[in-house]
Amino acid sequence: MAVDSTSSTWSQRFEQGLHPAIERFNASIGFDITLLQEDLDGSIAHARMLASTGVLTAQEAEQLVAGLEQVRTEAAAGQFNPGLEDEDVHFAVERRLIAILGPLGKKLHTGRSRNDQVGTDLRLWLRRQIGAIDAALVRFERALLTQAEAHPEVMIPGYTHLQRAQPICLAHHLLAYVEMAERDRARLRDLVKRVNLCPLGAAALAGTPVPIDRRHTAAALGFEDVYANSLDAVSDRDFAVEFSAAASLVMVHLSRLSEEVILWASEEFRFISLTDRCATGSSLMPQKKNPDVPELVRGKCGRVFGHLQGLLVMIKGLPLAYNKDFQEDKEALFDVVRTTLDCLEAMAILFEEGLSFRPERLEEAVASDFSNATDVADYLVAKGVPFREAYQLVGGLVKGCLQEGILLRDLPLERWQQLHPAFEADIHQAIHPRQVVAARRSEGGTAFDQVQLQLQRALQRLP
Ligand code: ARG
Repeated sequence: MAVDSTSSTWSQRFEQGLHPAIERFNASIGFDITLLQEDLDGSIAHARMLASTGVLTAQEAEQLVAGLEQVRTEAAAGQFNPGLEDEDVHFAVERRLIAILGPLGKKLHTGRSRNDQVGTDLRLWLRRQIGAIDAALVRFERALLTQAEAHPEVMIPGYTHLQRAQPICLAHHLLAYVEMAERDRARLRDLVKRVNLCPLGAAALAGTPVPIDRRHTAAALGFEDVYANSLDAVSDRDFAVEFSAAASLVMVHLSRLSEEVILWASEEFRFISLTDRCATGSSLMPQKKNPDVPELVRGKCGRVFGHLQGLLVMIKGLPLAYNKDFQEDKEALFDVVRTTLDCLEAMAILFEEGLSFRPERLEEAVASDFSNATDVADYLVAKGVPFREAYQLVGGLVKGCLQEGILLRDLPLERWQQLHPAFEADIHQAIHPRQVVAARRSEGGTAFDQVQLQLQRALQRLP
């Protein structure tokens, strides 16, 4: 019988080694080494469970645990460096364990398969990462809230169709993104329930005749429950799709904000200046200061949405139960997590120290347009004029002002009264941007006091 790396991995059924190119093609060790800590944690729980049901003696289990901890120590010291011949992290750990412990190491895999093992590792890893993403969302929210708190009186044009619509509080605008981030956090909290289910004990697909205690391992690993059906346990990747969809929405939110920051930093808007902390120059044009951070965030959406699509397509045609196709879930998930974390951190830094709002420019912007036209109509409505009639009158007035090249605030009282006798001297006050904003006191509206309420609530609900 040929003696080579493969014959020591596989059963005696195999006589020849893998073609080197296929060995490379098949291996996941290059990326699933990311799961090393979780693989060790899962194996430790499995070994102790086997002792609890009498499959192993307590002493054997503790020797296995010590061996697994030794692998952890070696890895921390950079001395655990599996190669392609190890195929994946699960085999790599088992091999090292056998090298350390001898024949006892060969008992670890009793009552278990790599199929339930890899699912366990991936869920443990993702659960931890979801915690990190939640913390990154909180930091991002804090950065927005700090900017909102720092500018309680500042107004900014509010847009619909990217056309000036009505002036709003800058804090109100920023708080809209805080709400999105809170929904992102709530979505993660909800889906983590489905990540936090233990597939261990499903073995290859059908369960095992070995007396195991699935509740024991699940509890030791902090899972909320076990999968009810062993086939489902080893072939479910819904949690990966759900997580990638939630991460995609995080990216959508960051990208929309990025787009606004990019516009605001342009010469056309000039609502913010970029500090040197997050902006870069041009290698050619000495005057340039570029908003690289929001541009990269906007650009990185492509890969996250792409991974979501990739996972859906990878899963959709698979018969039960485990298929090697599933190996493709890892790089996708790893990249979704890393990209989302990186983007959240970068956007938090951008709002912490990468940009400053320009209150004088914003003041000028809200005062020099017709975004107070609705308030003229509302003024007439308050005097008993039906809204549609008031709307028509003000439309005509705006048209006249545009022809003359003046603003509503430039009209003398006589002109107002020619339009409608209900106008009085307080019309000038009523259409001042500050009054226009202050008047919108409906719940969730942009009035300064309403926004302060929203801000307080947002601060209170943060952990
Ligand atoms: N490396 C594999 C994966 O990532 C581990 C599970 C392999 N199972 C198997 N029966 N080949 O999915």
